[in-house]
Amino acid sequence: MTSATPAPTVLTGIQPTGVPTLGNLLGFFLPALGFQHTHTAYYFVVDHHAITVRQDPAELRANTHEIAAWYLAAGLDPAKATLFVQSHVPAHVELGWILNTFTQMGELERMTQYKDKSVQHAGKETGINVGLFGYPVLQAADILLYHATEVPVGEDQRQHVELCRDIALRFNHSYGQPVLTVPKHSLPPHGARVRDLQDPTKKMSKSRPGLGCVLLTDDTAEVEKKFKRAVTDSDSGAEAIRYAPEEKPGVANLLEIIAACRATTPQAVAEGLRGQQYGALKAEAAAAVNAVLQPLQAAKAAWLHDRAQLDDVLQQGASRAAPVAAATLARVKNTMGYLPAR
Ligand code: TYM
Repeated sequence: MTSATPAPTVLTGIQPTGVPTLGNLLGFFLPALGFQHTHTAYYFVVDHHAITVRQDPAELRANTHEIAAWYLAAGLDPAKATLFVQSHVPAHVELGWILNTFTQMGELERMTQYKDKSVQHAGKETGINVGLFGYPVLQAADILLYHATEVPVGEDQRQHVELCRDIALRFNHSYGQPVLTVPKHSLPPHGARVRDLQDPTKKMSKSRPGLGCVLLTDDTAEVEKKFKRAVTDSDSGAEAIRYAPEEKPGVANLLEIIAACRATTPQAVAEGLRGQQYGALKAEAAAAVNAVLQPLQAAKAAWLHDRAQLDDVLQQGASRAAPVAAATLARVKNTMGYLPAR
């Protein structure tokens, strides 16, 4: 099975559930948007994935606009990249159904996010529903419809992209043709797993709000407060500030956050703070984050203020994405022997 080298194409998405975190910004928005300058780029709001947990309708609508505004505020240029809402392109669900038949129950049972979410969702209204179980298959469809070659994500999504590769390879193998482009994930150099400031063994997550989680809407004082209280360790020697992720996870997290905000390395940040105490490190982290958040919040407010313009961007995005997705779906169905509709 040989194929022409696929055009460099990037695709990635985020759920419209709650306020995005600093983890979403450093692990996802900023690195993902870097690709729009070099790749054909698709960014989207994954509303179908969000409903695996019951959503309040008004909140889901508002959050979908909010996420679109965060993308644009973080630098998405609608003249270069396509921004759309997943449910505006019906091919996602249709390919998702088809790919269910190329996915094994055991593969989905092994997904760590499914295992974690099954614990969180047990006893909730939506429970451990079939959508939650099949979630990575829809994600594979999202990616494969656009022949994405790169999928920029945080560390927690790596397993889903690997499953997507397996599904694509299996489909191509079944029909002896390279119908689907096999993607690879792309992790940012720093910030692939921003950790909770109160518990650096866990990832920062909107599902664990509080002092450990910096939200993109936090004001300057809130950010300072959260970093001031960040958990480090009891080391007070002259070498306390050094980059040693295994030994000093709290300190490493702060160094990585500063490095990701300033496009440098955690080692260089540590070097700059050599001999100082943790108070200085925490103040530096808060300053680095505030310098990124303040202009971002202003830009996001401006985009949200103009809903009509925001809706225009999303409509144009859907009309660019839909024919690409429809062409892939048609090729898949044709390959499989579906009778074309007239
Ligand atoms: P979601 O909405 O949970 O998260 C969006 C992105 O943010 C990253 N992220 C983090 N990165 C670093 N540190 C953290 N603490 C942190 N928390 C979250 C996630 O890794 C993710 O990249 N299933 C996906 C959405 C999706 C998708 C897709 C992604 C649906 N279809 C197709 C790529 C391609 C999700 O729920 O992401």
